[in-house]
Amino acid sequence: MSAGVAPNAVAAVSEARQWDRLMQMAQLGAIPGDGVNRACLTDLDRQARRLLISWAEALGLGVSVDAIGNLFLRHEGTEPGLAPVLAGSHMDTQPNGGRFDGIWGVLAGLEAVQALREAGIATRRPVEVVAWTNEEGGRFAPGCMGSMAYAGFKPADAWDAVADNDGVTFAAALRQHLALEADIPRRGLGVVDGVAPFAYVEPHIEQGPRLESGGLDIGVVDGIQGSRWFLVEIFGRTDHAGTTPLAMRKDAVQDMLRAIAALNELTHDPDDVLRFTVGRIEVSPNSPNTVADRVRFTIDLRHPDRAVLLARGDAIEGVVQGALRTCTATVTERFHALPSRFDPLVPDAVERAAAALGLKALRMTSGAFHDAQFLVPLCPTGMIFVPCRGGVSHHPSEYSEPSQLAAGARVLTAVLADLANR
Ligand code: GLV
Ligand code: MN
Ligand code: MN
Repeated sequence: MSAGVAPNAVAAVSEARQWDRLMQMAQLGAIPGDGVNRACLTDLDRQARRLLISWAEALGLGVSVDAIGNLFLRHEGTEPGLAPVLAGSHMDTQPNGGRFDGIWGVLAGLEAVQALREAGIATRRPVEVVAWTNEEGGRFAPGCMGSMAYAGFKPADAWDAVADNDGVTFAAALRQHLALEADIPRRGLGVVDGVAPFAYVEPHIEQGPRLESGGLDIGVVDGIQGSRWFLVEIFGRTDHAGTTPLAMRKDAVQDMLRAIAALNELTHDPDDVLRFTVGRIEVSPNSPNTVADRVRFTIDLRHPDRAVLLARGDAIEGVVQGALRTCTATVTERFHALPSRFDPLVPDAVERAAAALGLKALRMTSGAFHDAQFLVPLCPTGMIFVPCRGGVSHHPSEYSEPSQLAAGARVLTAVLADLANR
């Protein structure tokens, strides 16, 4: 077996099996238009995890869960004491999500491990397939809680008080979840016994248009742009919509509109590199004939350049305060991930594997955030992107061809055979 290529294992990757598993997973939380809504720490999430575990157990993998619900499926190495290679992604989806964001990375990990085993290829290092808890942040903000806690960015109880739209706290949801998975062996959170992973590889659909439009098969991801999330809360006063003159109102909706207009100016970028999104707005008391006394809205800000992300992000609070006419506001930062660059070990292995398999590859930086960025301080990290139709993601019509996903799983298999034998 030459470095970077494991022909028998690569040949054992089954396009049909991987696709069938993806479509089985897509049933759990299916929404109209071929989409999926499977929020983290829900019954649907648990059903998906049980299905994954059933496949892992049939393969003979060791299953374990940590204190924040990260799920690990371990293929033992011939030298079990060596640092493992980790591969995976997440199983939760956006509320109006698709069938591939996240879950494909986990199932590609399983497919690659299955292919290694079927081909009879033993690896020196263990390989652990991982499904991180709450990557999306759609139910409990921010995202990437599982990988952040694993990597020690935050303690596991940092988000205990974060509540979903129904007022359920993350702490309560996690407690219930862990109780329902009490039969699954527990492992320590994060680096156990001082053994950091040897490397982390995350396969994912690109979620953008570059690979498809370039006629390419594989994205060799060399870094991830930075993201900052903010929560803005505007406080006004309720009043009667028919009788209260405008001059007497403290209308939180009107001040929100002023704030967002000012933020659009702050974040305007003729080159369309800086990305600014207000994705959630909650109005209280949410009644047609009452002036709103409270608005909460979220800001998602992204840029690949640290200096730009810091400068524009730091200006947000002042711009919001300056835009208000009658209300008061607070601005809270809830997520701060600086742009990250990957150590060359994994990207180089991905590039070699793609070339050996005759696949057309492109080095690229991810516009989406991923659990991978939180592993960067811990171990060499990288990602494998495959194209998705029209670059569409976070939408039910998100789609990648079975053959494109199989190509990604083959690259992962070769990369794991390479890294886990070092
Ligand atoms: C991940 O889902 C992101 O929003 O980038
Ligand atoms: Mn994802
Ligand atoms: Mn996503």
